[in-house]
Amino acid sequence: MTRTTAADVRRDITARYRARTAKSRARHAEALRYLPGGETRGATRISPYPTYMTAGEGAWLRDVDGNRYLDLLNNYTSLVHGHAPPGIVEQAADQLLRGTALGTVAPPQVSLARQIVERVPGIDMLRFTNSGTEATMMMMRAARAYSGRDIIVKIDGGYHGSHDFVEISVGAEAEAGLEPKARLESRGVPSSVLQSALVAPFNDLERMAALLEAHHERVAGIIVEPMPNTGGMIPPAPGYLAGLRELTDRYGVLLLFDEIVTLRLAPGGFQQIAGVLPDLTALGKIIGGGFPVGAFGGRREIMAQFDPAQHDQALFHSGTFNGNSITMVAGEEALRRLDAAAIARINGLGERLAAGINALFAALGIRAQCLGYGSLQQIQWTDAPVVNLGDARRAAQDTGDLHALLQAELLNRGVYSSNRGMFSVTTPLQESELDLALAALKGALQTLLPYMREVAPRLLR
Ligand SMILES: Cc1ncc(COP(=O)(O)O)c(C=O)c1O
Repeated sequence: MTRTTAADVRRDITARYRARTAKSRARHAEALRYLPGGETRGATRISPYPTYMTAGEGAWLRDVDGNRYLDLLNNYTSLVHGHAPPGIVEQAADQLLRGTALGTVAPPQVSLARQIVERVPGIDMLRFTNSGTEATMMMMRAARAYSGRDIIVKIDGGYHGSHDFVEISVGAEAEAGLEPKARLESRGVPSSVLQSALVAPFNDLERMAALLEAHHERVAGIIVEPMPNTGGMIPPAPGYLAGLRELTDRYGVLLLFDEIVTLRLAPGGFQQIAGVLPDLTALGKIIGGGFPVGAFGGRREIMAQFDPAQHDQALFHSGTFNGNSITMVAGEEALRRLDAAAIARINGLGERLAAGINALFAALGIRAQCLGYGSLQQIQWTDAPVVNLGDARRAAQDTGDLHALLQAELLNRGVYSSNRGMFSVTTPLQESELDLALAALKGALQTLLPYMREVAPRLLR
């Protein structure tokens, strides 16, 4: 009997993908004429070409070829209530008939702001933006203005959007134990931004303390995702976030939480889970009820910098669609429906998914693990501890196209997930659908075993 090779596995997965997505392939060929790379968002790239989805309903998606998929991506965690959620759709449609963006402050903006302030412990006041990128950018500017200092310390490997000041060290330092240095992530970002950035590894209070000891007089704040998601879903070590609070207090530096992804884990976000109050918080994704959004907020005296009545040199912040009524009414309804019980339920489903994936790894003899918290989970291709984003980066090294092939094979089996092995769970998802997902994962991992044996033998026992 001839042995299945890695090339056979790739050929088989790709052939089956192509056979069921002819219309997607045609759309992609057309898209390449107008959109560089055929898309507008790196995260939606799928190998060999994207599946074109045309409709979503609850936890399910439908593509142009008529295939259905269980959605475990939900627009990178932002659609916590799934697609076209009843109730939220009606609210948005009702507002649509009365105007989308009225060019003034409208009541829904105040209601959503009140709801967020009531939920998130670290937010006394906030302002809305149209994306998480703008939210972290403005949050960092507010911290610099308040402190009169320029440097923001970011986590090695941390992702906070695509503005210049965070396009730094987004790929974590690959070499274990190396002191991470601030590196430009992209061509086109001016090297001058490196003068206002320092980088420290996640979950390492000692290094952070040393950095602040040496530079605190120039440091405005530390920006950190309480549980880094891009490349990670790495939970903070016990005491890490409290340790950051202690260090920032000791050195008179602000603590900035990016909770754009982690807000969904508790009514008040991860800061509530950890019992740690940041000075400023950035939000996005779920707070827009499915529409483009971002927000940043925090301590009253820091946010008061945006109030011309309180500051001679108030900070300017604008944006044509900031606080538009469609996003605000949809966000208000989405948050109202995401109460403590709903969050507990999806966190339970997420933990069940992770336990199921870990059981599959054990049964199939694969040295990998699913890491995360509640409704946010991610595969790491190692069974060794993954403590920071450098560990996560090393886990993905030397695994060839494993992430991409897993994504494609899951699509072949009717499950849509991310191209980095990340999964998130929505409120419409049912237990029986989770069973479908686990069956698809089992089949996909079995299909990939020969690929792992040849390309990444370290993964197999
Ligand atoms: C942690 C984090 N911060 C910021 C952003 C940027 O948000 P947006 O894509 O809305 O600009 C993202 C997006 O995925 C994110 O995951």
